[in-house]
Amino acid sequence: MNIHIHPTHEALSRHAAKLIIDILTQNPSAVLGLATGGTPKRTYELLVEDHRKNGTSYQSVTAYNLDEYLGIPAEHETSYKTYMKRTLFDHIDIEPSQCFIPDGMTDDADRECLDYEDIIDTNPADIQILGIGRNGHIGFNEPATSFDSLTHRIMLDEKTRHDNARYFSTLSDVPKEAITMGIKSIMKAKHILLIASGKAKAAAIKAMLEGPVTPACPASALRNHDHVTVLLDEEAANHIKEAT
Ligand code: F6R
Repeated sequence: MNIHIHPTHEALSRHAAKLIIDILTQNPSAVLGLATGGTPKRTYELLVEDHRKNGTSYQSVTAYNLDEYLGIPAEHETSYKTYMKRTLFDHIDIEPSQCFIPDGMTDDADRECLDYEDIIDTNPADIQILGIGRNGHIGFNEPATSFDSLTHRIMLDEKTRHDNARYFSTLSDVPKEAITMGIKSIMKAKHILLIASGKAKAAAIKAMLEGPVTPACPASALRNHDHVTVLLDEEAANHIKEAT
């Protein structure tokens, strides 16, 4: 694992954007695994800025997202599809048919999960971006999820629902279920880039890097992958030991 500690979220976002742009420069048909949430937002803004200034193209890129809420239409304000369109896809030249996100309105979630896993197998990610939950989740793989999990339907942890309530009018509007890539699906990526910012993430980062490798901390699975980059700001890195 390569661990980099930056003074600020801005600095780590610049580093993350550079890693992605370098991959696209070397391979314009790269496959990007994407995350939503607050942490990668600035990275996506920087990718848009770079696309406008330097013309980095996404015409041949395939992208897929980690997860989507169940029961929310794709065009709804709070869907992850809407987040991705507003934050990134609508501002770059990516082909909409090459952007995959699980269908939150599917009437056959099992079929949707199998089909999604096929997309991942056909297009292994050159880089998979991840955030981390306060409980150590990656994607929506909540604590106790098997390291062998593929794309699946899950019940969201109450902590996760509380954390995500900021995007909804009330806590009761936050969906209780989602479809997420599994831990094994995430581990299929050639390179995993985990970014974390702020003191609320410090305990999860310590558990991921220094605690046991256990489903109790889903992100600890990343220690079994041979190409992981972790970008932290000083607050998120606050609990880890010098030696780490
Ligand atoms: C998002 C996702 C989640 C988030 C995590 C951190 O697609 O799968 O695992 O990455 O909850 O969210 P933020 O960045 O909002 O703190």
